[in-house]
Amino acid sequence: MKEEVVTKDEATVPAARGAAAEASGEPLLVVDKLVKHFPVKGGFPIRRTVGAVQAVDGIDLTVHVGESFGLVGESGCGKSTTGRLITRLLEPTSGKISYRGQDISHASRKQLAPIRSEIQMIFQDPYSSLNPRQTVGKIISGPMEINDINPAGGREKRVRELLEIVGLNPEHFNRFPHEFSGGQRQRIGVARALALEPKLIVADEPVSALDVSIQAQVVNLLQQVQKDLGIAFLFIAHDLAVVRHFSQRVAVMYLGKIIEVGDRDSIYARPRHPYTHALLSAVPEVNLDGDEEAQRERIRLAGDVPSPISPPSGCRFRTRCWKATEKCATEEPPLVRISGNGPGHLTACHFPEEPTTGARDEDIVLDPALAALEETEG
Ligand SMILES: Nc1ncnc2c1ncn2[C@@H]1O[C@H](COP(=O)(O)OP(=O)(O)OP(=O)(O)O)[C@@H](O)[C@H]1O
Ligand code: SF4
Ligand SMILES: [Mg+2]
Repeated sequence: MKEEVVTKDEATVPAARGAAAEASGEPLLVVDKLVKHFPVKGGFPIRRTVGAVQAVDGIDLTVHVGESFGLVGESGCGKSTTGRLITRLLEPTSGKISYRGQDISHASRKQLAPIRSEIQMIFQDPYSSLNPRQTVGKIISGPMEINDINPAGGREKRVRELLEIVGLNPEHFNRFPHEFSGGQRQRIGVARALALEPKLIVADEPVSALDVSIQAQVVNLLQQVQKDLGIAFLFIAHDLAVVRHFSQRVAVMYLGKIIEVGDRDSIYARPRHPYTHALLSAVPEVNLDGDEEAQRERIRLAGDVPSPISPPSGCRFRTRCWKATEKCATEEPPLVRISGNGPGHLTACHFPEEPTTGARDEDIVLDPALAALEETEG
């Protein structure tokens, strides 16, 4: 079926609801030494726990009121698990999650009820995250029904309002998800997340499944929503390009740990962790001195992340790091403000890079096996 055209690239938030709310320094979400280990079962005939997937292994992070916080890392590093722990779709193994000062780490459904509506999630796949048998109106008003919320003017009016906010035709509330394109479906997902006027949205790779041309539109929409409605975001992405213009602060995750965190300038202009350098070298437009060519593609991050069932000792990045020494294998580097870092910029590395993204003398290949292969081929 022919798509209904989205006429607006960006959402227009009705003025009455759009009193611009700036990010404040007040903490909304505080995560402290959060751990999630999934047990690995083995053995026959009695299945025993033989190990654990260390999906999230002791992370700290704070998201302030109205702030957009980016969480970035390769596939399997524990980003979604972190998001699901925060939204309490998963039970943490240990550590603490506080929301507005309240410890929700192990809160029961009943205890969570009053804040359920304040924390919402947007999922990666706009195809599977919407029930194909429900109309858009039903999908978006679902959270209102579950929470028994009856907005002034009725739920249908609110659904129309929300459709307008996300740049969809308010008259289309009776249509089904398959009648919309991928980008439009993700807008429906955004409308559903907004239905209960949340204070925090965990957006788990909300644009990864979309065409590149559509990604910017959806990111713009989220940015508009964040600014106009003062909603804090935990924006999960697998590369640094997507969160660059959206997040005021960014954390880089590797194999269940946060290895570097800081404000946007620190991370993009003065990264210190070798892994952050590697991720940035794959991001186009990291062009700080106008020397574009020299700065691109200097580090090739090849090979897979090691298994989170038996992560490397010491620094988990050491098996792919070109600077690794004996110390990296024996001592885990703490996430701290190292010499040369600005306030709030923390790095977990024994031998950090210079605070620059400038060109290197030579190419660095992170995977020795790949380098050897290239040498024999060459
Ligand atoms: N329910 C589960 N049971 C066992 N292991 C799991 C479970 N959920 C996630 N994992 C494992 O935990 C690790 C982290 O997974 P997670 O989905 O959080 O990664 P991610 O960073 O979101 O990756 P991606 O970019 O692919 O979405 C992976 O090794 C994954 O296989
Ligand atoms: S601690 Fe060592 S292995 Fe880890 S990133 Fe720093 S230099 Fe590389
Ligand atoms: Mg994920």
